[in-house]
Amino acid sequence: MIVTAYDATLARLFDEAGVDAIMVGDSLGMVVQGHETTLPVTLEDVIYHCRCVARVRPAAHIIGDLPFLSYQTSEEEAVRSAGRLLKEGHAESVKLEGGTSVAASVRRIVDAGIPVMGHIGLTPQSVHQMGGFRVQGKGDEARRKLLEDARALVEAGVYALVIEGVPAPLAAEITALVPIPTIGIGAGVATDGQVLVGYDLLGMYRGLSPKFVRRFGELGDAVVAATKSYAAAVRGREFPDAAHSFGVETAASGDAVRYGPSHGGSESTPKQEDR
Ligand code: KIV
Repeated sequence: MIVTAYDATLARLFDEAGVDAIMVGDSLGMVVQGHETTLPVTLEDVIYHCRCVARVRPAAHIIGDLPFLSYQTSEEEAVRSAGRLLKEGHAESVKLEGGTSVAASVRRIVDAGIPVMGHIGLTPQSVHQMGGFRVQGKGDEARRKLLEDARALVEAGVYALVIEGVPAPLAAEITALVPIPTIGIGAGVATDGQVLVGYDLLGMYRGLSPKFVRRFGELGDAVVAATKSYAAAVRGREFPDAAHSFGVETAASGDAVRYGPSHGGSESTPKQEDR
């Protein structure tokens, strides 16, 4: 089971919950940066967010998502971009969108020693070509094309395949066809695994909400309620109270003011200096 995350705090919590992998998806363009599509996301953006996630050293595998135009222009560019996600972002594998059209690049990236996850079906980087975020694979021709894409990616060496926004029976057919794990999102229950955008499953994202998203929590409402309580306490001068303030004696006696992590980690001894 995979979730997307883009920052250290959520990555730590998802890791504590035992997710298998954290995907630093280019969905960050919509849920973090506020864009309407994933198209404006740059490779530098994904590297930055991969570093934020990698810094907590999660037990979960870290997948870095190659953004629009970081791999489509040439095979060399694809290898270079994928390499940067590992070298600079500390991702452990990369994901890219597309089928037969990217198969040669996938092969080159895999040959460079970088594990690649494929992504077919509703591929958000092609939103304008698809005429919107629409279910894919409907009809014989579209079905045949998706099966061909899946085969091409397997031959090129992907280690897993995201299937997004396709009819459940077709996702089941692809899952039965390929010898690698399939990861579904809006593709029914027959895929080997599932992935969801972290902010979606937590109920935090107020934008576009596809039919396939189930909110497993309502943290958006919790954030609004908590912030209203804070505002009321500040405006009513109930906060900060004595328990959350420093007296003259406490400060004079040299008590440390804690700004470090409260989860038992040590600020002064980072596990990996270069992250
Ligand atoms: O960008 C992303 O988060 C993704 C997943 C939802 C598969 O591609």
